[in-house]
Amino acid sequence: MKREDAKVNAVKVGIAGLGTVGSGTVNVLQRNAGEIARRVGRPIEIAHIGARRDNPACDINGIRVSRDIFAVATDPEIDILVELIGGTDTARELVLTAIKNGKHIVTANKALIAEHGNEIFQAAHQNGVDVAFEAAVAGGIPILKSLGEGLAANHINWVAGIINGTGNYILTEMEQGGRAFQEVLEEAQSLGYAEADPTFDVEGVDAAHKLTIIASIAFGIPLQFSKVYMEGISRITIEDVKSAAQFGYRIKHLGIAKDTGHGIELRVHPTLIPRETMLSAVNGVMNAIMIDGDAVGPTMFYGAGAGAEPTASAVVADIIEMGRALTVDHDERVRYLGFHADQMSDDPILTIDDVSCSFYLRLHVQDKPGVLANITRILSDNHISIEAMVQKETEEGLVPIVMMTHKVLEGDMNAALAAIAALDTVDNSIMRIRVETLDA
Ligand code: HSE
Repeated sequence: MKREDAKVNAVKVGIAGLGTVGSGTVNVLQRNAGEIARRVGRPIEIAHIGARRDNPACDINGIRVSRDIFAVATDPEIDILVELIGGTDTARELVLTAIKNGKHIVTANKALIAEHGNEIFQAAHQNGVDVAFEAAVAGGIPILKSLGEGLAANHINWVAGIINGTGNYILTEMEQGGRAFQEVLEEAQSLGYAEADPTFDVEGVDAAHKLTIIASIAFGIPLQFSKVYMEGISRITIEDVKSAAQFGYRIKHLGIAKDTGHGIELRVHPTLIPRETMLSAVNGVMNAIMIDGDAVGPTMFYGAGAGAEPTASAVVADIIEMGRALTVDHDERVRYLGFHADQMSDDPILTIDDVSCSFYLRLHVQDKPGVLANITRILSDNHISIEAMVQKETEEGLVPIVMMTHKVLEGDMNAALAAIAALDTVDNSIMRIRVETLDA
């Protein structure tokens, strides 16, 4: 398209999926149409919607609607296909079809990008189109643009974030309301926070999808979802939440991506963080991400990680950016992962055994001479040093012991815990939670 034509012609957008985020996107595009047109330099027009059914949450009068979403992907009039159907199989086919038909892609689909992004970017490159996915990570927080553009001058040291609102809501309610895990999960489902399959939230899959994308843009590595170490919050008890508080910590489910200098750590798991860190004050369904860059130092981004209009805010920002770039040559646009395709790094992703952390440990043991001595000997044999320890009083049965360790290699901790669990004076349901101080 010539630059003169671009000024007068509207950018034609097709939206596939009219659920929560789809209706939010329609509403934001319509409500802010004047301001958006001033920002792009020409209007954005919703030219075609593909949805199995209408959604009373938005007004689509006068817009062409197809019940077959593929009719949008092949519509010759469309410049940008906005994929908001979710899931991976049909979404992948839809996006690849649209790309073959010369459409640029905007998507909010974290699973699609984390699991099929490399294939999608290759297809997009071959067809000279763009793919943008800001809304896939942390909803309305512009974290990918911040990493890929605002902080592009930095070597990124690490990123650590609360990137699953449902998990954070559950942990907050457990701590503040003293409520049990299952009860709060059921409430989160009834409030509509949780994924269609809530195990994605509580077992860390949703956070791992998001961390995969964050890490690629932070470090210029290919998307490697299968290499993320994943642990959820379903084993955390109120006892752990209270013990962590006694030591001055809160338990948060974090996604952590760290450049160690000899490989990249990619892990999502419950983490003890000091109560005085800003991240530990992030409660309820809110998301927050800390980025530590060598030039800027530590930064923190906070906001709504889900919901119709917060997510639409990111979707529409991508549409605006693409609208502005339509007249720019493909090779001159910002790359999909923020690094040029021939400049991607092959830094290895470390296995969890190579990660070094401090640990919180909770054990239940028999209250008799020598039990503690045996445990501390096993820890010492595996190069593990104890930083603090509390033996709690109990009326009867096994005695709870909670301890914090200094930094230790995960592999050494695994060996020690296996030996401790084998002692017949120790209950083998030992809880261990990694600790991060989030220092710059
Ligand atoms: N289920 C997700 C969450 C929604 O709780 O954060 C946004 O990805």
